[in-house]
Amino acid sequence: MSEERGMTPFEAAFHASAERHERVWTFCVIVMLALLTIGTMFYVVRDYGLVSATGAFYTDPADPAREAAFADGKIVRTGPNAYAVYVVGRAWHWSPDVIRVPAGAEITFYVTSADVLHGFEIQGTAVNLTAVPGVVGSVKYTFRRPGVYHIICNEYCGMLHHAMVARIVVTPSQAVTTGTPS
Ligand code: CUA
Repeated sequence: MSEERGMTPFEAAFHASAERHERVWTFCVIVMLALLTIGTMFYVVRDYGLVSATGAFYTDPADPAREAAFADGKIVRTGPNAYAVYVVGRAWHWSPDVIRVPAGAEITFYVTSADVLHGFEIQGTAVNLTAVPGVVGSVKYTFRRPGVYHIICNEYCGMLHHAMVARIVVTPSQAVTTGTPS
């Protein structure tokens, strides 16, 4: 503004107009950046959840049911639209290595390891917990969309660590009679 002294009327008008345009464009850029930030956060939270999904860890070595439940990994229906999935990590595979569940169902994963540390991560989701021998980690997750999701091992566990992959096949929702809240 200090240069206004000594300006011709045309220069002063041009200067004022340029400043007005600058303010408008600065405002537009701030609004666009805000929308981009909010939009990105919205879609990330919608698709991946607000926090990394890791549930409780507990251990009860005296519980014989635990060993049985994990013997080979298994899938148990626990309610009209709920499943418990028991997963064991071993060098170098997950049991069970194919898990079939319907979309929209509440899945509780119970994860442990039979030997060393493994990392139980479901790609494309926020599910990520460490499979620890003698300890059970649990996490709840609901798959909204049918498709194939891969469980990978994200904790280095030896030679075939990279090949330690299992699949979760999410079938279309079975909730026809109850209606699914969405
Ligand atoms: Cu199991 Cu890396």
